[in-house]
Amino acid sequence: MWEFRSDTFTRPSEAMRRAMASAEVGDDVWGEDPTVRALEERAAAAVGKEAALFVPSGTMGNAIGMRLHAGQGDALWAHDTSHVLDNEGGGPAALWGILPRGVATGGGFFGPDDLKALVPDDDGDVHHAFARLICVENTSTAAQGAPWPVEALAAVRAYAHAREMKVHMDGARLFNAAVALGVGADVICREVDTVQFCLSKGLGAPVGSIIAGTAAEVDRANRLRKLLGGGMRQAGVVAAGGLYALDHQVERLADDHANARRLAEGLGAGSRLDIDVDRVATNIVLAACARPEDTAAGVCSELEQVGVLAAPYDRTTIRFVTSLEVDADGVEAALQAASSVVG
Ligand SMILES: Cc1ncc(COP(=O)(O)O)c(C=O)c1O
Repeated sequence: MWEFRSDTFTRPSEAMRRAMASAEVGDDVWGEDPTVRALEERAAAAVGKEAALFVPSGTMGNAIGMRLHAGQGDALWAHDTSHVLDNEGGGPAALWGILPRGVATGGGFFGPDDLKALVPDDDGDVHHAFARLICVENTSTAAQGAPWPVEALAAVRAYAHAREMKVHMDGARLFNAAVALGVGADVICREVDTVQFCLSKGLGAPVGSIIAGTAAEVDRANRLRKLLGGGMRQAGVVAAGGLYALDHQVERLADDHANARRLAEGLGAGSRLDIDVDRVATNIVLAACARPEDTAAGVCSELEQVGVLAAPYDRTTIRFVTSLEVDADGVEAALQAASSVVG
């Protein structure tokens, strides 16, 4: 089987498992796990923020990030297909009473003009929820995994800060963005107030995410993590996987990006899938069903029969995600197998 459903399927390597098995641990809820502390310090430095907190998942990191900047009756804006609006169980509304508002631009990105057209003027009109927060997803799945250009983020930040709003980044794939743009993650994160990034996706650790911001924000984040039941005890065992990933598995994301492009070229050469190969910027390929009678679920199950695992993105679009689970030779073999299905 060739695994392209998600980079969440990545399994820890032998070396990562050894690092996890030998991790020094303590009770992290008491602040006494040295490996968690080391990961948090390493992560804060990587994203150029004062402090960072290890959390069990990206969803929890985002939930905490949103609550840091907004509360009951406040409004946040995010792309209308973004993970925080569409794939986190209604978290902002369900957990915090935050009103989620969607920005419905074509490509997954948006700018100050889009926001000006949607966010009510800050003129004291009592009809409106307080506009507190903008969430950006980087890389953006709706943009086929493309990274936000740093200048575009800077424009959103300038707009937000001029209105006393904050910017939280769902950087589930932040390091894919950094590698694709050829800049440090800190350069990207300068343009946002808080950032969540996942260790458990392309970076290859089994569990965990980081939420980073100012020291005061991370103090509050620690309380919110406890409230959500995310305080973990000897968490150094899993944090060691994250540390290993940051030390050894960032640069190799470039291989996943090259593999995604090759996969897109190969799959798009057939007649059954429409793929914009030039838009493949990181490890995500979105393939539209070219035949009106096809559905994404149907084509995915045909692909599964020949060993190629992919996932429906919407009714007629399939998402392929490359990761360390399939190397360049594996991609060639998968293309060979898929050719009987995609033409
Ligand atoms: C863009 C994006 N944000 C957030 C998450 C949430 O991460 P987790 O599955 O660790 O909760 C995901 C997970 O797939 C994601 O793709």
